[in-house]
Amino acid sequence: MSMSILEGKKYNITTFGCQMNEHDSETIAGMLQEEKCVETLSRDEADIAVINTCSIRENADKRFFGTLGQLKKVKERNPHYMVCLCGCMMQQEHITETIKKKYPWVDIIFGTHNIDRFPKLLRDAYEERRKIMEVKEDRSDIAEGLPSKRLFKHKAFVNIMYGCNNFCTYCIVPYTRGREKSRHPEDILLEAEKLAADGVKEITLLGQNVNSYRGLDAGGQEKDFADLIYLLNEVEGIERIRFMTSHPKDLSHKLIEAYRDCRKLCDYIHLPVQSGSSRILKAMNRKYDREEYLRLVHKLREAVPNITMSTDIIVGFPSETEEDFKGTLSLVREVKYDSAFTFLYSRRKGTPAAQYEDQIPEEVKHERFNRLVEAVNSESAARNAACVGRVEKVLVEGRSKKDKGVLTGRTEGFKLVDFQGDENLIGKIADVEITEGKTFSLRGRVRQTL
Ligand code: SAH
Ligand code: SF4
Ligand code: F3S
Repeated sequence: MSMSILEGKKYNITTFGCQMNEHDSETIAGMLQEEKCVETLSRDEADIAVINTCSIRENADKRFFGTLGQLKKVKERNPHYMVCLCGCMMQQEHITETIKKKYPWVDIIFGTHNIDRFPKLLRDAYEERRKIMEVKEDRSDIAEGLPSKRLFKHKAFVNIMYGCNNFCTYCIVPYTRGREKSRHPEDILLEAEKLAADGVKEITLLGQNVNSYRGLDAGGQEKDFADLIYLLNEVEGIERIRFMTSHPKDLSHKLIEAYRDCRKLCDYIHLPVQSGSSRILKAMNRKYDREEYLRLVHKLREAVPNITMSTDIIVGFPSETEEDFKGTLSLVREVKYDSAFTFLYSRRKGTPAAQYEDQIPEEVKHERFNRLVEAVNSESAARNAACVGRVEKVLVEGRSKKDKGVLTGRTEGFKLVDFQGDENLIGKIADVEITEGKTFSLRGRVRQTL
């Protein structure tokens, strides 16, 4: 057999953006490993540099162009350096046009709908010594059976659906990831079983809006998201199931029941609210209002008293008044989130909100942002302090980066815990008594292992 032209080549992948992108990078790495490429931690010393891009906010764009500047220097030193760009930015025509014009030395550009084609594109680029751009339109099929080189040994991402149909007026994702498509339940189950056989204990189901999962099984029956959870709950070896992200507008009663019925479904939910003002929510096209959101939170807490909650919040959406913003602050105080990701509204070309006239001045956005972070942090600290004395089940992930003598892991509620412990606990679920609650994490001491 002849040797593949890719064999032995060193690759490095830089990933921006969300878990979707992280998981796509795992797939890209898996495919390159199958071609017998080897990973290097130094991007400058790689033969193949892959940059997986994100378009969600302006600073993502800025960081990307900064990275391109660095790659240019390496390319000047080493003309064989293969520079490959992929991810959400590559689905935006004004970006690929700029790259072709200003960065003509880039070798390969590919989009989010044809990741599976990357090894082929790479071989073509080497063999035919030419530049390649392949950004496909949205496609109806889903590439199954792709390999993955996982970032973590004991936990894994599992895509259950792709794309988004919601068109929140600020968001670029529906344009970069296309329309919603659900995988078949059997394909997802098979993947979960394989992961379990490989030692994975925790899976995180990925989708922009997992609640709208609708997968057809082999018998032509439609399964919804809650059905899928019940099925996955039966997979032997998988001990924990999480998901990201669920949209409040279609979180079903059936899913709330699944929390009660399915032991493995973690008592945790990331439920992005975006704003506490009903007027702004309407302008964002979120399709729920403040009261409906709060009712949902109440229902969840009633059914799952210990549930941990996190959220995403945007400040400074066009036309947001001080009063709207105070609505967001009061909602944060009322829900008492365990944690929240807070964002300054960023104008994204091609989205409806980018055209709105009443954009909020930067200094106003920043001032509100700081007040919001203060509120969010004080609630987080209070929620974490309330954990002291409780015994939590912690999936031990590894050693702490800061202190090698310390182990770190996550509770069912996705809270980070540091504790002293023996190396052989890694990959196990340990009972840890919480001794201290900080703003962003907990400290504890091991009780016993399971
Ligand atoms: N599908 C997920 C969100 C994916 S994007 C969901 O709907 O929950 C992650 C977060 O980025 C969003 O929840 C939103 O808070 C934030 N975001 C998206 N577009 C943004 C923009 N233009 N400016 C600021 N934040 C934005
Ligand atoms: Fe963006 Fe809204 Fe879709 Fe989430 S649900 S990806 S915020 S359009
Ligand atoms: Fe960014 Fe694309 Fe995710 S825009 S946040 S990488 S879906």
